Amino acid sequence: MPAKKGVLELHEMKRRGEKIAWLTAYDYPTATFEEAAGVDMILVGDSLGMCVYGYPGTVPVTMEQCLVHSEAVRRGAPNTFVVGDMPFMSYQISDEEAVKNAGRFLKEAAVDAIKLEGGVSVISRVKAILDAGIVVCGHIGLTPQSSGQLGGHKAQGRTLESARLVVEDARALAAAGVQLLLVEAVPPEVAGFIRAELAIPVLGIGAGEDVDGQLLIVSDVLGTFQAFTPKFVKKYADLAGVATSALSEYVADVRGARFPEEEHCYRMLEGEHERFRAWAGG
Ligand code: KIV
Repeated sequence: MPAKKGVLELHEMKRRGEKIAWLTAYDYPTATFEEAAGVDMILVGDSLGMCVYGYPGTVPVTMEQCLVHSEAVRRGAPNTFVVGDMPFMSYQISDEEAVKNAGRFLKEAAVDAIKLEGGVSVISRVKAILDAGIVVCGHIGLTPQSSGQLGGHKAQGRTLESARLVVEDARALAAAGVQLLLVEAVPPEVAGFIRAELAIPVLGIGAGEDVDGQLLIVSDVLGTFQAFTPKFVKKYADLAGVATSALSEYVADVRGARFPEEEHCYRMLEGEHERFRAWAGG
């Protein structure tokens, strides 16, 4: 088993030009699969709102939900760099709230870093969390928690004016000292510009190839989330199809009395059936 990577190793990977493989996970078994597959980083994203709880978006997700899922993922992937995702309203109110909630991720779920959305507008929160000694991953471009303000889940940076805002956010976060940066749904031209300018690893989701690593939502990769599939997703398996067909087979077996079979039964111990029948008057 390769040694667990810390933030310095992730920076080293960028310097060596090695791509970082990052996936979300929300539960213990998936975390074990991802660690066995050798992912470099796991995000316990607030996308669990849609992928696990069936909410229409990430806004209803609570700190308690994020912590419970982060703990489970940490148990399943003890040797992988785990990032906890700060949910809506866990950092927006004040620097103090932001530090308190970021600290809970480390104390209660033993994550390695936290992620929060926003650039210029969250710099004071980011600095306060960094001052507490916590590793921070910025998240810019399409920021789902504020998708209402962005006019929906739309790609950002497709015009010069919009691209400049994304670059300003990236520069502000890097100057504040974030150790990692995630860029979501921006053109490869803009993501590549940011990657080349910054010394920290710049990871992309829907940001093309010219970044230091890729993030995808595991439920998209494995085909368990069916409500919608963003353009940038590559589906590697159809677990929803596999699961539905296995479960249909089970239903048919029960209805057709083909399950359980002899091998699935606990028979009485030798001689006990006769004693049981005598007792029952049979
Ligand atoms: O919650 C999440 O999984 C995320 C990704 C969409 C970037 O923040």
